[in-house]
Amino acid sequence: MKKIIVVGATSGLGREMAAQLVKAGHKVGIAGRRSELLNSFIEEHKSIATEPIEAQVLDVTAPDATAALDQLIERIGGMDILLHVAGAGFENPALDAAKERHITEVNTVGFVSIIDHAYHWFRTHGGKGHIAAVTSISGIKGMGIAPAYSATKRMQNNYLSALAQHARMDGVRLHITDIRPGYAQTDILTPDKKYPIVLSPEKVARVAIRAIKRHRRICTIDWRFKLVVAVWSLVPRPLWERITFVK
Ligand SMILES: NC(=O)c1ccc[n+]([C@@H]2O[C@H](COP(=O)([O-])OP(=O)(O)OC[C@H]3O[C@@H](n4cnc5c(N)ncnc54)[C@H](OP(=O)(O)O)[C@@H]3O)[C@@H](O)[C@H]2O)c1
Repeated sequence: MKKIIVVGATSGLGREMAAQLVKAGHKVGIAGRRSELLNSFIEEHKSIATEPIEAQVLDVTAPDATAALDQLIERIGGMDILLHVAGAGFENPALDAAKERHITEVNTVGFVSIIDHAYHWFRTHGGKGHIAAVTSISGIKGMGIAPAYSATKRMQNNYLSALAQHARMDGVRLHITDIRPGYAQTDILTPDKKYPIVLSPEKVARVAIRAIKRHRRICTIDWRFKLVVAVWSLVPRPLWERITFVK
């Protein structure tokens, strides 16, 4: 049994991962902004939970985010794994500046605030731990239909890599897992848009949890998106910038 905090557990991938972790017998603390969804998670899962589920309202961009995280860690009696799933993302073909700023705020400032706080917590509580985060395959290339989203996901990929190096230099025995799913059926997808491949949240959660268990550093989900990423990586920049993505 591990003590696991899931930040961004109210809906989508985070909710599904939290559910599978509860079913597997872990002690889970869930966080997110929507308190009604935190409460409904507890209601839905309390009969199968072997350990009480704790919930904490937390906005990753708020100044009190780290204090809220501390409260949740205390309520579950410590932390073995910090799983950061919280994220904002939508296509923004009109390049609406307010939307771009919101995505940037949640996926960079909010991300760094939670991940850094977890790092320091692990460093001062035994010098070991595991930070896992759901980023995306979108960080591989800049996407014209989602500039802030693709750019902030790249930042997250690089931040986790930097943190892995930092932990080694710091002598902290920290596992870091960067989970990079392709499109999955959650509220983040543009409604009514036809996507070529869409994964189920159940599958993404199952594969991601297995990767965390195996201490994998990077986990791209699934094999079809691995192929997509491999092809994208080979496209030279001048050609990439001439590609038109369907809006
Ligand atoms: N679905 C996909 O196709 C896909 C693919 C690759 C990567 N991802 C990544 O997966 C993660 C989860 O997204 P999802 O697809 O599951 O979409 P989702 O259902 O919209 O989930 C987003 C989660 O992030 C939380 N969140 C958003 N802003 C927050 C804030 N300011 N403070 C705290 N929590 C916040 C939401 O909780 P509250 O609103 O309650 O705060 C919610 O739990 C994101 O990082 C996304 O980029 C998704």
